[in-house]
Amino acid sequence: VHNPPRVSWLPAPSCAYASLSTAALRPPVAHAHRLHATASYQIEGAWNEGGRGLSIWDTFSKKLGGDTGEIACDHYYRYRDDVKLMASLGLKNYRLSVSWSRLQPDGRGALNPEGVAFYNDLINCLVEHGVEPMVTLYHWDLPAALHEDGERDGWLNEDIVQAYTDYARVCFELFGDRVKSWLTFNEPWCSCVLGYGTGEHAPGLKCEDGSKVYRAAHNTLLAHAHAVDLYRRHFQPQQGGAIGITLNSGWSEPLGDADPHVARSHAAAAHRSLMWSLGWFADPIWRGGDYPREMRERCGDKLPEFTEAEKKLISGSSDFLGLNHYASEFIQHNEAGDFVSGWGTVTKGGFFGDMAATSVSHPSWSRTDMGWNVVPWGFTELLLWCHRRYQPSGGIYVTENGCAVPEPTKELAVEDHFRVAYFTSYVAAMHEAIEKGADVRGYYAWSFLDNFEWQLGFSKRFGMVHVDYATQQRTPKASAKWFASLVAANELHI
Ligand code: NOJ
Repeated sequence: VHNPPRVSWLPAPSCAYASLSTAALRPPVAHAHRLHATASYQIEGAWNEGGRGLSIWDTFSKKLGGDTGEIACDHYYRYRDDVKLMASLGLKNYRLSVSWSRLQPDGRGALNPEGVAFYNDLINCLVEHGVEPMVTLYHWDLPAALHEDGERDGWLNEDIVQAYTDYARVCFELFGDRVKSWLTFNEPWCSCVLGYGTGEHAPGLKCEDGSKVYRAAHNTLLAHAHAVDLYRRHFQPQQGGAIGITLNSGWSEPLGDADPHVARSHAAAAHRSLMWSLGWFADPIWRGGDYPREMRERCGDKLPEFTEAEKKLISGSSDFLGLNHYASEFIQHNEAGDFVSGWGTVTKGGFFGDMAATSVSHPSWSRTDMGWNVVPWGFTELLLWCHRRYQPSGGIYVTENGCAVPEPTKELAVEDHFRVAYFTSYVAAMHEAIEKGADVRGYYAWSFLDNFEWQLGFSKRFGMVHVDYATQQRTPKASAKWFASLVAANELHI
């Protein structure tokens, strides 16, 4: 590795960001620190109660044989106390997701009245406590009824576009009077690549050549565009809200090399790495309705085609860009495209072979409990890159950022030094991007509570509030208090 890290991790970033007042921020950014995020399957529990239908995560996590979200944080029963806790921390915004199968147990048709009542009560409770909800329609928990392990199931079947659009309509009709911020999808990269390529996420399909990954993503983009079109035509004029999508990306920094030819091929690989994560979804939305040129060139007919009408529908189909960011990597060219996932799984070829890039970590970087590199300057770079490439008219909302920390005891969890340092440096890095011109309008920390971290179960703790899963007791960690004072002052002091 030839590139030294540009900003060292610990001590905290330079005092250029030592005190940022609201006056230094453009008006929308005044809201930037007030926000927290969670997702239905990760916190709700009550998996077979209140008329809820099964989701692919119920069946998949059972099959894995480890933890499941059957009880999780029991939020279905404890949401009132959880909302009170948010309010006591002074939080003004909260990102949650709706469980499709709690609302429509079969994924289509009949609504579950208890599910409708649950989300109405939760939203009302948030509003009563002065907490504004941002709602994700799809955070990976597809109704199991829409996936039966066949060749053309779930996101592989284009019929899902209609089913999803109908479900979105139900949500807009039921909750749109109070919900003014919608996200169609959370991290489609994960639901498609890990769900239909590596098999690490539900529904757990593995696909060696990657073709299913591209097909699932194609249907996801179409579903997104149809839902946005529906909202804009039938709901937005009266309800006046905004709708967008949340994409995940690390920052890909090209590995340096003394040989300029090699350095150039690493730079192209780093660009591809951003294309195969963000560009895959963001280019069709913000750059004219089709996939990035590099994907068209390298994927051949595995990459489905959009019709001209579909391109028109997708182009511009997001009022703002939602961005989830956790880590950064150096990227080098590698035709075999070996991919090492954040949790160490190595995947060769297929989707990653198309990308022909491999990631490398700098040895000096510290890592979170997920093994993800802590590189605040990468966040600055990514925000500026998104701003330059996409210029989303409604700006960028950071819809997730945070870290898992090993917390062997509750005492250590509450002390929480690592997480406070992580958030301090990442919020500072975001401010650097804002000062350099990135139009960032909001920042949601991941996560409010410790919760069910998908295939890794309860072993990873991302919360600012500790959850004792045996008693369901909630205890704010130091980061919750740090965040509360950030919200109250809307200033960052480091
Ligand atoms: C991405 C996902 O949206 C969320 O569900 C997950 O828990 C966090 N990142 C951490 O991995």
